[in-house]
Amino acid sequence: MQITVTGGDIGEQPADAYVVSIAEGARRLAGQAASLDRALDGALTAQLTAGIAKAKNGEISIVATGGRLPARAVVLLGTGKRDEAETADRLRTRMANAVRRLRTLDVGAVAIGSGEATAALDPEEAGRAIAEGLVLGLYRFDRHHTKAADRASGSVGDVTLVEPVARKVAPLTDGVGVGQILAEAQNLTRDLANEPANLMTPTILAARAQRLASERGLECKVIERAEAERLKMGAYLSVANGSVQPPKFIVLTYRGGRGSRFIGLIGKGITFDSGGISLKPGAGMESMKGDMTGAAAVLGAMDAIARLKPAVNVMAIAPCTENMPSGSATKPGDVVYAMDGQSIEVVNTDAEGRLVLADALAYARNEGCTTLIDIATLTGAMSVALGSVRYGVFANDDRVARELERAADAAGERLWRMPLDGDYEEQIKSDVADIKNTGGRPAGSITAAKFIQHFAGDTPWAHLDIAGVMTASSDKGVLVKGNSGMPVRTLVHFVLARAR
Ligand code: BES
Ligand code: MN
Ligand code: ZN
Repeated sequence: MQITVTGGDIGEQPADAYVVSIAEGARRLAGQAASLDRALDGALTAQLTAGIAKAKNGEISIVATGGRLPARAVVLLGTGKRDEAETADRLRTRMANAVRRLRTLDVGAVAIGSGEATAALDPEEAGRAIAEGLVLGLYRFDRHHTKAADRASGSVGDVTLVEPVARKVAPLTDGVGVGQILAEAQNLTRDLANEPANLMTPTILAARAQRLASERGLECKVIERAEAERLKMGAYLSVANGSVQPPKFIVLTYRGGRGSRFIGLIGKGITFDSGGISLKPGAGMESMKGDMTGAAAVLGAMDAIARLKPAVNVMAIAPCTENMPSGSATKPGDVVYAMDGQSIEVVNTDAEGRLVLADALAYARNEGCTTLIDIATLTGAMSVALGSVRYGVFANDDRVARELERAADAAGERLWRMPLDGDYEEQIKSDVADIKNTGGRPAGSITAAKFIQHFAGDTPWAHLDIAGVMTASSDKGVLVKGNSGMPVRTLVHFVLARAR
């Protein structure tokens, strides 16, 4: 989809549909809606006075133009009462819902009036929110439906934002550009993570990373099993033991700053998590194709970073493998050694994410990452705690935690900081090794984070447990049923803020 911004009169745009925003309870239409209303001899006003449209926040009503305007239809987007504080979030959500509705009309070009829609917001932020809403809202994953009737039907043509205030055109255009890049990156993450595990093996994921690198001018290195053995990545490799798929440890490097210090973005890349010998129950196991969402998110973030070119160095690290049971699989009770020499008792082979992250964090520190952010679908307990609304953040450093909170705010994603008290350490003490990989049911997400903290050492580190927000159960705002592609936008905003 192409999204452009222009000045001028919305009613003169050569489009198939016009979209204008209207406030609830207003005496009369204003701005761009009013100018369309005049051309339609008051048909929009009639819609409101007849109570057919109420303009409640999020309400969408469609009026046919009957040939009185170049477009076929006018879409009225309710923005709620004027005293409801408008936010970029609300705008993003509204645009996503609206564009899905437009798709059912099979529209060609769309002109969106940005006057009323963005009046209460910073224009750059508003442009970003609109582009994100449009591109994320239209996402679908239907490539494996071979019959056209099973694929979501309808399409939407190119979009023009029509801005009546001349000085707002430039910042809106900038915002649209950034928003489109962020949303496309998030959709890339969704594409990678929605793919079934037989079609997104570590080998295939590594090939996708190589392709991304060559398209975007990033460096890419894939560490194969033999090299991982030389590097003594015993924790990571212990997860790969049961699989016939070769593990791939992916490293993508972006150099936008001076020196050799990096922000490390480390994504859990379990392309399928069966639980291993500690096999998961069958019901719902298919969702574990998404256990590489952390890896997909760091790839998506790198896509946006490579396009936005912030003045900072970033290294994305994705330890990828399947977690499978077999005669060669790691067994409960086995002791393995991570790259940094710490010994781990593997009490439960289903707590595999923290094992691959242990070596990935150790590797990142060796390579000059001075800030570590890991992203992982780590614990089912995370969705018990926060559901699918917020993801959990654990940090050994208040500054990094605050930066992430600010980044999530700017991105329109929601997180919540979780505790890391030393007292939880008790639960992961092992009788036979330095630590064990599970701490029992109580505080399951926290003890998982405590485990990972051992491998961050004194490097500023944050851990994002995204298990709860991994999938959306239905289409809602920017979310489309399936993988959410979170938290790509937060990661990119974190990096952009570091570069400023
Ligand atoms: N990948 C799972 C966590 C998960 C669950 C992600 C649901 C997304 C949705 C992880 O590897 C896992 O199996 N965790 C265990 C840990 C337990 C064995 C300590 C869990 O949460 O049950
Ligand atoms: Mn598991
Ligand atoms: Zn897992």
